[in-house]
Amino acid sequence: MRLCTRRRSRTLRLWLLIVFLSLHLLVVSLVLSISHTSCELHSYPDIQTSISFSVQNASASTSTMTAAGSDTQEVEMDITKKFFFLLASIIFLIKTKQQSRIRSTKRGFSKKNAGGFRYKPRGDCFFFAKVRQLCFLCSCKQTLVSTRLTGALQKSGGTQLKLVMSFPNYGQALFKPMKQERHEETNVNLYYFSDFERHNAEIAAFHLDKILGFRRVPPVVGRLVNVIKEIKDITTDHKLVTTFFTSPVGNACFYGQCSYYCSTEHAICGRPLKIEGSMAAMLPDLSFAPRRSWRSPWRRSYSRSKLAQWEMDSNYCDSIKTTPPYDRGTRLVDLIDMSILDFLMSNMDRHHYETFEKFGNDTFLIHFDNGRAFGRHSNDEPSILAPLVQCCRVRRSTLLRLHLLSLQSYRMSDVMRASLSQDPLAVVAPLLTEQHLSALDRRLETVIKTIHDCLQQHQHHSDVIHDDIGDYPGA
Ligand SMILES: *[C@@H]1O[C@H](CO)[C@@H](O)[C@H](O)[C@H]1NC(C)=O
Ligand SMILES: *[C@@H]1O[C@H](CO)[C@@H](O)[C@H](O)[C@H]1NC(C)=O
Repeated sequence: MRLCTRRRSRTLRLWLLIVFLSLHLLVVSLVLSISHTSCELHSYPDIQTSISFSVQNASASTSTMTAAGSDTQEVEMDITKKFFFLLASIIFLIKTKQQSRIRSTKRGFSKKNAGGFRYKPRGDCFFFAKVRQLCFLCSCKQTLVSTRLTGALQKSGGTQLKLVMSFPNYGQALFKPMKQERHEETNVNLYYFSDFERHNAEIAAFHLDKILGFRRVPPVVGRLVNVIKEIKDITTDHKLVTTFFTSPVGNACFYGQCSYYCSTEHAICGRPLKIEGSMAAMLPDLSFAPRRSWRSPWRRSYSRSKLAQWEMDSNYCDSIKTTPPYDRGTRLVDLIDMSILDFLMSNMDRHHYETFEKFGNDTFLIHFDNGRAFGRHSNDEPSILAPLVQCCRVRRSTLLRLHLLSLQSYRMSDVMRASLSQDPLAVVAPLLTEQHLSALDRRLETVIKTIHDCLQQHQHHSDVIHDDIGDYPGA
């Protein structure tokens, strides 16, 4: 009798599992089919559509240039990859669901209160990895901006204070508090590796990457956070709690624990309670989507006295071009895309970059951790462009986008200003000062001139231009 019940319950469980799996399969395939549209950020319809429009016009191939910018040609998945994605997504969904169930029972929440994991808008920031492109459902921004915070923990690793914030639905975001006023320039005597991480740089990098058509920066938005109610009161980190104090003028401050700038002299203070910060959507957990970290061939020496090899050898790129994984596919031009982004925002701190391991070598680079960008507007750092200068290679789609953003009607600074004005923190103050915006235009000219110089030096355009669009006549 008991055996029978057990067997019956096992069959029942099996059936439930099958029903559950097929439901998820359905949901996932729905998500897959709509993910293309969901990838379009909905907040900047005018700029975004007009940009893609005129790029479409310019490229004369309406189908290839869409949301993914430079990667579109490769977006079509083959059937095995599609299957892998369905499977991986199902495992992810099940895992998340289980975890939220375990956690909600642990905390004594009813499922209804806890929120659980939802696929609907207003749910979690749901990361959806398409083959060469990360997709985020549009509910993401809303979650990051206004969902109640339920937890704050210091992120281990890294040199400066950052907090991992949790939402009621167990979504998480990386919070970097404001450390420097927007008009302040980095001290010229400070090395790039000891520069502050700026919250507005994280936000602006996301917008710039999108405007350039890369879309390889995970979403970041600004948020005002209450130091007491949304950090001190909800954190379970006792060491963090001990670093809170009230400043002489009555502002709530804290400094946390880290290797740089975690001291009373560099305290992070509310005015009097709220602080500005950037909220970056967390990438999928490493156990679900392991990432591979690659040392950048143009990594700086991270020493006050030594030079890196690329700084001394002008033929450095010749050896890189023949070294895997840069010897094939688009890895080299992807890296050059990244160096163009970094040059525009003057980010010298790109020692490593990451890719999703599952996609192998032939995949996109994730452009995250941009906090040390936009430090100085009054000078440009030509060495950041070294990969472009030394290799003289660039994607045609990137070049077209750069040309477009140099036109009077699509000036990069104007497009950035408009895009940044959509961020919630823009009501406090513009996220980038006018000087930083005009530095973008100036640097853009430098990039375009560099590419034109390359074209002059080479006999064939195809030596310089990596043709990822195909049927566009003339560069
Ligand atoms: C695209 O090109 C057509 C003519 O080829 C023109 O009529 C149209 O206005 C252009 N669209 C944009 C957005 O520039
Ligand atoms: C990926 O790149 C690494 C070089 O870092 C190389 O050793 C490996 O063979 C490459 N894999 C494939 C499948 O090409």
